[in-house]
Amino acid sequence: MCGIIGICAIKRNVAPMISLGLKRLEYRGYDSVGVALVLNESRVHVLKARGDVDSFLSRFKVSEFKAYTGLGHTRWATHGAPSDVNAHPHTDCSGRIAVVHNGVIRNFSIIKSILEVRGHRITSETDTELIAHLIEDEIPFSSNFFEAFIRAISRLEGSYALAIINSSEPNKVYFARLKSPLVLGLGDGFNIIASDIPAVIEYTRRVLTLEDGEVGWITPTEVKLFKLTDDGIAEVKYESIMSRVRFIEWSFEEATRLGYPHFMLKEIVEQPNAIKSTYDGNIDDPIVKLAASLLNEANHIVLVGAGTSYHASLIISYFLSKIAKIKSTPLIASEYKVVEDSISREDVILAVSQSGETYDTLEAIRAFKSRGAKVIGITNVVGSALSRESDIAIYMRCGPEIGVAATKTYTSQIMVGSILAIYSAIENKSLDNSSTRNLIDDLSKASDILGLSIKTSLSILNDSPLRGIKSMYILGRGLGSMIAKEASLKVKEIAYIHAESYPAGESKHGPIALVEEKFPVYFIATSDSLEIIGNIMEMASRGASIVVVKPENVNLNISSSHSINVVDMPPVNSLLLEPYTLIPYFQLLAYKEAVARGYNPDKPRNLAKTVTVE
Ligand code: M6R
Repeated sequence: MCGIIGICAIKRNVAPMISLGLKRLEYRGYDSVGVALVLNESRVHVLKARGDVDSFLSRFKVSEFKAYTGLGHTRWATHGAPSDVNAHPHTDCSGRIAVVHNGVIRNFSIIKSILEVRGHRITSETDTELIAHLIEDEIPFSSNFFEAFIRAISRLEGSYALAIINSSEPNKVYFARLKSPLVLGLGDGFNIIASDIPAVIEYTRRVLTLEDGEVGWITPTEVKLFKLTDDGIAEVKYESIMSRVRFIEWSFEEATRLGYPHFMLKEIVEQPNAIKSTYDGNIDDPIVKLAASLLNEANHIVLVGAGTSYHASLIISYFLSKIAKIKSTPLIASEYKVVEDSISREDVILAVSQSGETYDTLEAIRAFKSRGAKVIGITNVVGSALSRESDIAIYMRCGPEIGVAATKTYTSQIMVGSILAIYSAIENKSLDNSSTRNLIDDLSKASDILGLSIKTSLSILNDSPLRGIKSMYILGRGLGSMIAKEASLKVKEIAYIHAESYPAGESKHGPIALVEEKFPVYFIATSDSLEIIGNIMEMASRGASIVVVKPENVNLNISSSHSINVVDMPPVNSLLLEPYTLIPYFQLLAYKEAVARGYNPDKPRNLAKTVTVE
């Protein structure tokens, strides 16, 4: 997954616009960066290098160039290692065509062999470079550049969001989308094509999300859009384009750091407001009630998600069972084939994805839909592929999340799932009116609980809370085991510490063999699983260094004969609220340790915010 941007303008230098766009897209990948500018009609000027956006922009002084049309790219490597030569943009043999790409071309080996036989000089290991040469190859057989472009992309298998310039048409950017996100920003005297909205909202709030199979071009004053179908190509009418333009309400400031050293810290701290917005926006939403009816009609429910969204799915599945007595199966999205053959039209898929663009999650819902299942999508991004491909889309409404490590979207997903569980229980009458009111009232306190929990965690945690630790366990039972999975992902992905999580009852079946004097074990104790005390004691007897994190009112009767560090988080009177009091401690633990170790938590190595590849 990568970030792409293409801009053309009249009377406005696009070089600084592309530079800023790259900064906004850096969360999508940051192993190499490049720009292509049309400085004259004979060739495209390309600058590119391995490294991050800031170093690139200052090294090449990009903003000092003057151009009216250009492209930018920030890369997360798939085909070919991160290197100067593999960085985008890529050009054809003549140097007149430049391409930036987000996606993966599956049939690249065969295309490469054909192009080499036809005499093209391929210089990088990437699949993207082939696209530039393919277009060049099609030009002699086409009546114009657009036709060559269409002929070239018709030969591609896989996924792509593409922006392409051609020095012979200095005021145009061509684009195409298939299974990778792409938006159009419509400006006054300029137009922008980009992977995501933060890259354009500095300049315009009028945004259109492109759909799969759409291709076209922008000039400073015009947008031409076509739909590729099995029967050919059809132009999308101007009125239809305009009817899809949305005005982006959220401010640019909401997507920036506002003085915090990192997005991750800002997003952890803003959780009380984020969750309030999720609660207010969904608690009376008829769409959520509609989704609850669908869940009640289902023969079987499968939840799919990846990473943090999968961890939220575990809790949503648990609450559906506990509150609404509805059985469901949470599944890691990339493993959808495990249940695929048993899916039928009576089933419902509950897909959870912050971005709504995660390849694995989209592949799963597409496979299940093709078997007739209905899809409910929970996503934060209006207009995302998940929102468009779901039968019912529920929005998290917690504002943009930029930090690669998901934080506020995790608590927001749990909130949406909890509301859904309550409405499912109302629908199937497993809750009476007064219990329903109590649960809704409980949820309304989540924002305050999160605020208190963040304050408590910040006051307890020192600057390097996991100093010297290389490997650790984070364990729980019941709800605690699900929260532990997310806690360990945070520690792994940003502090680069091996943090393993499994249900605490499993220790005696194998993992306790690793425990020796001072081996660090964190326990997350929740009110549904007080029997965890036995697991704590078996670890303590073997000399483990133990920290127990629990809501203050969960009483475990820990024997004082062992030196166990107990961390009390704000008390809560409902299981539904326990994730909000417990998770901030671990988000901040991971954050503080990452910073202490000199890592940038906003740019964890090998990761990107939105994973649009297989
Ligand atoms: O956008 P999604 O929620 O579908 O993303 C899923 C995962 O890629 C994401 O949660 C990832 O695991 C994050 N790095 C977690 O912090």
